[in-house]
Amino acid sequence: MTTNRRNRRIVLASRPQGKPTTANFRLEEAEIPPLGPGQVLVAIEYLSLDPYMRGRMDDAKSYAKPQPLDETMQGGTVGRVVESNDPSLVAGDAVQGMLGWQTHAVASAKELTKVRPGLPLSVWLGPAGMPGVTAWHGVNKILQPQAGQTLCVDAASGAVGSVVGQLAKAAGARVVGIAGGPDKCKLVVDEYGFDACIDHRDPAFADRLKAATPDGVDRVFENVGGPILDALLGQMNPFGRIAVCGLIAGYNGQEIPLTRVRSILVNKLLIQGFIVSDHPDEWPTAVKELAGRIGDGSLKYRETIAEGLDQAPTAFLSMLGGGNLGKQLVRVGQDSR
Ligand SMILES: NC(=O)c1ccc[n+]([C@@H]2O[C@H](COP(=O)([O-])OP(=O)(O)OC[C@H]3O[C@@H](n4cnc5c(N)ncnc54)[C@H](OP(=O)(O)O)[C@@H]3O)[C@@H](O)[C@H]2O)c1
Repeated sequence: MTTNRRNRRIVLASRPQGKPTTANFRLEEAEIPPLGPGQVLVAIEYLSLDPYMRGRMDDAKSYAKPQPLDETMQGGTVGRVVESNDPSLVAGDAVQGMLGWQTHAVASAKELTKVRPGLPLSVWLGPAGMPGVTAWHGVNKILQPQAGQTLCVDAASGAVGSVVGQLAKAAGARVVGIAGGPDKCKLVVDEYGFDACIDHRDPAFADRLKAATPDGVDRVFENVGGPILDALLGQMNPFGRIAVCGLIAGYNGQEIPLTRVRSILVNKLLIQGFIVSDHPDEWPTAVKELAGRIGDGSLKYRETIAEGLDQAPTAFLSMLGGGNLGKQLVRVGQDSR
């Protein structure tokens, strides 16, 4: 081992009761262990903060195991190889992997994917990474919007929603976004090219949704749940489809009751929940298309970047509350060099 660096990491210190706080996390420092055969040392450049991490902070039955207490917070990262004990990677290679909230990680080379040169490293955690593939799956495999149909997506300015709307526009749909506040709505329309965007905090939200969808709604990409989904159910057209991607309105344990369940029956709706990690076979195709669109400028994106590993808990809580404009990242590069 030639490095004299030390690792800094953030662990889950306690499970939240309702809304998480920074007290649920703890910053630790430790020696970096020596590399074993087939392992590499990665200096992490960017860490992805994602809503699913909130679910894993609870000790509850879900599609994935809970985040263990006192262990490094799990999460997607991009970084650079510092040392390698595997012929497939050399120092300086840019890699992507689930290395967690820390400055350095010793990982098996097999767990890492080399990222293609040409695009900024951070996009592999956003529009060309897991959130982008999530949007791609929901739009192309579930919703399959047709030209002239109306598609609605909430959390529309975020990592997933912004890609959903742009892919649906490219398929010829009329796209209506739902987002928190006028600045986010302006971005969604002016930069991402949605046809309209409604502020879900507006007291007249339900009326504005009706006005923005005069021909009803054919497709919904659902990221939020709660009153937004209920209002959308009231606007659905016959044989409409809803892809349930996330229900962030309930991630702190809030009830998210629906009152317009009748719409599922009378409109013969198809409702499909999905988890992107169930579809690894689709990733290469999706990533190729998304990276191509980013490269040619037809897929636009924004990032909110917190500086420094110790900012990760605050940035995570801010993102859950809507403080992010686009993909929420933490730049840990200055800590890991
Ligand atoms: N199924 C899967 O495999 C999969 C994969 C990735 C992500 N997801 C889900 O996709 C959704 C979006 O994830 P993302 O990474 O793109 O996050 P994001 O949209 O970049 O950030 C989260 C956004 O959620 C919105 N939000 C939070 N609480 C809300 C509430 N009570 N009502 C309305 N909006 C609320 C906020 O936007 P506003 O300010 O606009 O309200 C916030 O900015 C999440 O539900 C996530 O769990 C699912």
